[in-house]
Formats: sequence, C-alpha cells, structure tokens
Amino acid sequence: MTRTVAILLAAGSGHRFGGDTPKQFIDLAGRPVFEHSLLAFGLAAAIDEIVVVVSEEHRDSVRRIIAAGNHRKVSDVILGGRTRLDSTRAAIAHVGDADGYTLIHDAARPLVTQATISDCLVALAGADAVATVVRASDTIVRVDGKQITETLDRGTLRHLQTPQAFRAAVLAKAVIASAAAEDSFDATDDVSLVRHFVPDARTTTVDGSPRAFKITGREDLAFAAALLEAER
Ligand code: CTP
Ligand code: MG
Repeated sequence: MTRTVAILLAAGSGHRFGGDTPKQFIDLAGRPVFEHSLLAFGLAAAIDEIVVVVSEEHRDSVRRIIAAGNHRKVSDVILGGRTRLDSTRAAIAHVGDADGYTLIHDAARPLVTQATISDCLVALAGADAVATVVRASDTIVRVDGKQITETLDRGTLRHLQTPQAFRAAVLAKAVIASAAAEDSFDATDDVSLVRHFVPDARTTTVDGSPRAFKITGREDLAFAAALLEAER
C-alpha cells in the first residue's frame, strides 16, 4: 500500500488578517479554523497520516486541541519556518521522500471538500504534481501603479488553491533543489516550486470548489461562518 501523508501548514502569523491570534487558531463555528481542515483530512479514507506544521508559540496548544479532539491520524506536530516555503521544507525533511504521496494543505482553508481531496489523489495516477484550481470569475488585469497595462483572458486564468498533491519523491527533489539554488525563488505554493525546480515533472490541475477559499482577511472568516450556518 502506498503511504499517503497530508501536511497541514499552520505556522503562519496571519499578517493580513491582523490581531494577536493567527487566523488559523480563531474560532469558526465552534472550533479553531485549522481543526476544520484537520477533520477533513481525518475523514478522507485515502489519507493515512497527518503532519501538522506550527510555530513554536502555538505548538503546545495545538497538541492539546489534537489530543482533545481525538484526531488519530495526526502522527506529529512539527515546527515550521519564517516563510510558507520554509514550513514546507521542514515538513518534507520530516516526511522524507519514500515511495508514496504527499498532500499539502493550507490550514487557513477550512472548507476543503472530500471531493477535492480525492480528486487530487486520483489525478496523481497520471501526474507527479497536482494543483487544485478554481476558475476566475472576475476579469483580471495587469496594472502598473493605477494604469491598466493588460486585460487578461479570463477563460485561461485560474485561482490556485490547496490541497496540492505530489509523488513524494518529486516534491522532495524540488525542496532539495530549492535549498541548494542560488536564486531566491520563494513560492507561495508547492506546485509552483516543483514547476520551477523540477521542470520535467508532469503537472496537472483539478477543479476545486470556491468554498475552499483561504481565510485571508476578516471578511473571509465571516463568509466561512455564514456558509457553515446556511448549511446547518
Ligand atoms: N504558513 C505556514 N508557515 C509560514 C507561512 C504560512 O505554515 N511561515 C501557512 C499559513 O498558516 C496558512 C498557509 O500557509 O495556513 C497559507 O499562508 P497565508 O494565507 O499567506 O497565511 P499567513 O502567511 O499566516 O498570512 P499572511 O500572509 O497574511 O501573513
Ligand atoms: Mg503568507
């Protein structure tokens, strides 16, 4: 059986969200945002193990929440780094590059669906790296200051989300290459890291759900709460 490990990135400080408590630890419908993500991967039959990545400051409280919630698939709570890529690196150093699959998910996307998790893994049959994407609903333009310099073709644009799924060896190769690289390419997602450092990797996308938006600002938390309330 192929081992499938989900990595939950929860080591950010939530600068754009603001406040003292990072957004992934704020309450959403009765539990912290990251615990919603954790529950989704716990429920997904294809996921064998979950590694949670946090900052030093929140490690103990996260451990307590995991113990209290009886999240049995969590094998470890490890320390992340200064940037998201640093946190990915810490997780890959921990998980290794054994023959298996690695999923990476932003803990700040609490409404990830079971369908998306399973679609990502199914797509790995024909790819090394899979990104969840969502169609752009607004037209997107390029600007230079306040000047519009280009109107992009909405039909070919996608929002990149997580989860992203990988053959573990390919992601490990990208992470190792990025650590050794001269350029300071600091990807804010992991499929882009693979594309940059392992150019011959086979990459594909699966259509995700707009409900898996990332909690970034205050209004996003209100949207997520309203969605959950409407679905009750
Ligand atoms: N993340 C992480 N380690 C970091 C930075 C981010 O594990 N050093 C995680 C966040 O906790 C989040 C996900 O990566 O679940 C996506 O990052 P983002 O939305 O940018 O979160 P923050 O970096 O915390 O927010 P901001 O950029 O506003 O500071
Ligand atoms: Mg960030």
